[in-house]
Amino acid sequence: MKFFVDTADVAAIKELNDLGMVDGVTTNPSLILKSGRDIIEVTKEICDMVKGPVSAEVVATEAKAMIAEGLKLAKIAKNIAIKVPLTWDGLTACKAFASEGHKVNVTLCFSAAQALIAAKAGASFISPFVGRLDDIHMDGTDLIEDIRIIYDNYDYKTEILAASIRTVNHAIICAKIGADVITAPPSVIKAMATHPLTDKGLEQFLKDWAKTGQQIL
Ligand code: G3P
Repeated sequence: MKFFVDTADVAAIKELNDLGMVDGVTTNPSLILKSGRDIIEVTKEICDMVKGPVSAEVVATEAKAMIAEGLKLAKIAKNIAIKVPLTWDGLTACKAFASEGHKVNVTLCFSAAQALIAAKAGASFISPFVGRLDDIHMDGTDLIEDIRIIYDNYDYKTEILAASIRTVNHAIICAKIGADVITAPPSVIKAMATHPLTDKGLEQFLKDWAKTGQQIL
């Protein structure tokens, strides 16, 4: 399974990238705001650091303007994936970008029908938002399951990029279902390495070790 980091925080990306845990990065306008950085500068810095796809999102809502913005973002680096919202204009822009060989991440997906139509428009990635469906009392991972079935039925190559991953449990359910990628904040990726019984076990080992009076070095 590929791990994308859902942040524009360069230091946080570097920490995970140095451990080989970063297969790509996703950003969005809210994450750019949080970073306090200029979109072009910070995206370039991330693209220089990370080998895999780096999603940069357009903010226009009309296809022609989306295409102009997306082409500007694509010039930042070869590994840019142009991110467009799942609207009719977004799909029009997606088709135009895909026809020119650009990677496209279609975002803000909340239904299997949307995922199917994005695949038909040539999306490289579809981003269903798991946590935001949970927020409205639906099960976001059910959507991942539905999309997996549909894409496999017809052998669509669009990768399922499970987004709005808020918990370790989200990540593991998506892995069991067969999402191609999860994109999660650094805190969720780091939490995947933790378990209370690991902490408890280590504490006991260190207590017992101290009683031996020995040292390894
Ligand atoms: O990649 C989309 C993601 O940033 C949305 O996450 O937690 O704001 O729903 P969240």
